[in-house]
Amino acid sequence: MKIEEYISSLPTPIISGQEVELPDDSLREIFRFVDLGKEDVLYHLGCGTGNSLSIATKEFGAKTIGIDNDKNKIIQAEQQKEPNRILRCEDITESDLSDATVILFWFSDENIIQKMLERFSKLKPECRIITIFDPLPGIIPNMVRFPYLLHKTPFTPAKSLKDQVVSIFETECIDFTTAWEYAERYTKAVGSPDVGNDRFLTILQTIMIWINARNLGLSCTKEIPAPVKAYIEILDNFFNIEVKHLIK
Ligand SMILES: C[S@@+](CC[C@H](N)C(=O)[O-])C[C@H]1O[C@@H](n2cnc3c(N)ncnc32)[C@H](O)[C@@H]1O
Repeated sequence: MKIEEYISSLPTPIISGQEVELPDDSLREIFRFVDLGKEDVLYHLGCGTGNSLSIATKEFGAKTIGIDNDKNKIIQAEQQKEPNRILRCEDITESDLSDATVILFWFSDENIIQKMLERFSKLKPECRIITIFDPLPGIIPNMVRFPYLLHKTPFTPAKSLKDQVVSIFETECIDFTTAWEYAERYTKAVGSPDVGNDRFLTILQTIMIWINARNLGLSCTKEIPAPVKAYIEILDNFFNIEVKHLIK
């Protein structure tokens, strides 16, 4: 089956990422990356049960605001009493973010991303917005520690998608090894309770990174490299996932 069909056959909560929370060590890495400190006001949009907020207040001294539209998650987060932390059960597309200095934003829903991009653009200068894996659409990140991307207001628009990809991979030659390294960094950052699935996710992400690079003219060679060919065949023969049609 084509990869698009495979993805649409997965359960909705997996696709929407509703139940996915970042591991504590990844949160620490993100906060070190943005140099979070006591003068900061951190907003975690879609904060879930609020682990991020505890780490940011206790270990980094920041003032934190967690927003989630799932009442049960907010109730769960409220069980831990923390000073310097505010929880709000709201829709992030309507929330007041005006005092934010740092925003953690990990969403894949295109409608939400577009609405938030507009709202982020109006925030005060030097606000740091962190995304994971994907940059804000049409924006060049100011700093990259893949899969973490930092965008500062006012934003720097990208001239093209190719420019944006080069700013993240810091090279115009994304070969199999580079694609694998980046895919693995992402897999490690988002973690998974079942490590057995990590290799599968890394393979799938590697092939998707490589194909996208190839379609943008960033894949170093015209020929499909042997390991890419082999993994495309493994995905097809062992997992019944076909990706070849995506190569332009
Ligand atoms: C961190 S986000 C999404 C993560 C996911 N991996 C992704 O890529 O989209 C998950 C959290 O956001 C919350 N959420 C989803 N939509 C929301 C909205 N419009 N406003 C506030 N919270 C929202 C969910 O309840 C959940 O706790």
